[in-house]
Amino acid sequence: MTLPMPPSELEQRLIDHIAQYGPVTFEAFMDAALYDEHHGYYPSRRNQPGSTPVGTDGDYFTSPSSHPVFGALLALQLDEMWRNLGSPDEFTVVEMGAGDGVLSSDIAEYVQRELPEFSAAISYISTDLVPPSGTDLVRENAAIPVGVTGCVISNELLDAHPVSRFIVQNGQIREIYVDYQNGRFIESVGDVSEPEIAARVEPFLGSLPESYRGEVNLRLGYWSDSVAATLERGYVITIDYGCDRPELYRPARIDGSLRCYYQHTLSQSPLIRIGKQDITAHVDFTAVDHTLMVNGFERIGKSSQQRFLLNLGIDQFISDIRERAALGQLSRCESQEDLAGIGSLIDPEGLGRFRVVVHMKNGEVGVEPTRLLSGILGGEPLTRAHKVPMLNESIADHARLLRASNPFSQSNQASMTEMPNWEQLFSDEP
Ligand SMILES: C[S@@+](CC[C@H](N)C(=O)[O-])C[C@H]1O[C@@H](n2cnc3c(N)ncnc32)[C@H](O)[C@@H]1O
Repeated sequence: MTLPMPPSELEQRLIDHIAQYGPVTFEAFMDAALYDEHHGYYPSRRNQPGSTPVGTDGDYFTSPSSHPVFGALLALQLDEMWRNLGSPDEFTVVEMGAGDGVLSSDIAEYVQRELPEFSAAISYISTDLVPPSGTDLVRENAAIPVGVTGCVISNELLDAHPVSRFIVQNGQIREIYVDYQNGRFIESVGDVSEPEIAARVEPFLGSLPESYRGEVNLRLGYWSDSVAATLERGYVITIDYGCDRPELYRPARIDGSLRCYYQHTLSQSPLIRIGKQDITAHVDFTAVDHTLMVNGFERIGKSSQQRFLLNLGIDQFISDIRERAALGQLSRCESQEDLAGIGSLIDPEGLGRFRVVVHMKNGEVGVEPTRLLSGILGGEPLTRAHKVPMLNESIADHARLLRASNPFSQSNQASMTEMPNWEQLFSDEP
């Protein structure tokens, strides 16, 4: 007989809170599970030396962790944005939710090596609610500059926001709370805690079946306000998985989009492994548009990550590596490892299906060149005459997708069979 585990400190705090005040909203629960100062998923993973949520030894991969080409292509896009704005003397990039700082390191390295004119103008500020120890990431919003010209960029920030959950019962939108009974955390259902939760879903209610579940992110407004305070003139690049609202609340997505990641396995059970697993939900890109529009931004384009990176010229980087391998300038092992990392960025069943959305504020509206962004519109690839960055030359640590220690390694077939593939990890299917 196995004895039940005693509650962790975080669980006990939640139990005590629920005993005193009643069930907590799912949003408050997710906030504690991910961001509790000492025992939340991000602070506890980042405070353990050598531990990170992202990468081979973590719970999931992100694009920056997969290959430095991601940062290089964004560097080329930022350089084009800087030129579109008239090459101002100062161009500030603020990365929100920068995590372990790999993207900033890759962008900085590429700008310095390949884009000397831009390198004289760019300054890069990385911010995160939970900065890893030993990094110079900014934590406090107050420390982020205001009124800059440049770009605010984020990758997988918005899907990490705590969300409210709802369920359709008797044709009404009700909210899912977290309760604790008989030694277990369980869901309970009550009235919505904020009218906005019902207001977001109401237009779709007629088509949603009984017991339909979904999520609403009420925090996008705060994010948008901080983007607006930061950026006086320039662009916002938002990269994440998600969709527009009609797709998000389509009837077939009956269990919503909430997903948990633990050591590269996927579940829909947020009430277990509290503080030890990541919890995410699809981003409502309609809400992203609305909140930014309210703050004076206009959307100038959206794309899949695959299309965005192809438009910027990723296939030229791929051809360069293949040519160098054919000429014997790269070992077979080295070229395959790089090609696997780069390929994962445009995998249509994986990271390639992420969304890239670009907004703009105070550009010269109506003047065509300001809208001419290669990542969105395509045209001449920006990679022409630029070198492809390789894993072995990069300062930052990347996931090395073909290494035997990697659960996604193709030489690690035994464990592969138990692992979800990219398609399962990022499936839109309910
Ligand atoms: C999924 S991770 C992505 C990290 C990194 N951008 C990457 O692509 O590897 C989400 C990050 O967003 C951070 N985060 C969540 N909410 C935030 C907020 N309100 N402000 C700043 N960072 C936040 C988390 O601490 C975490 O580091």
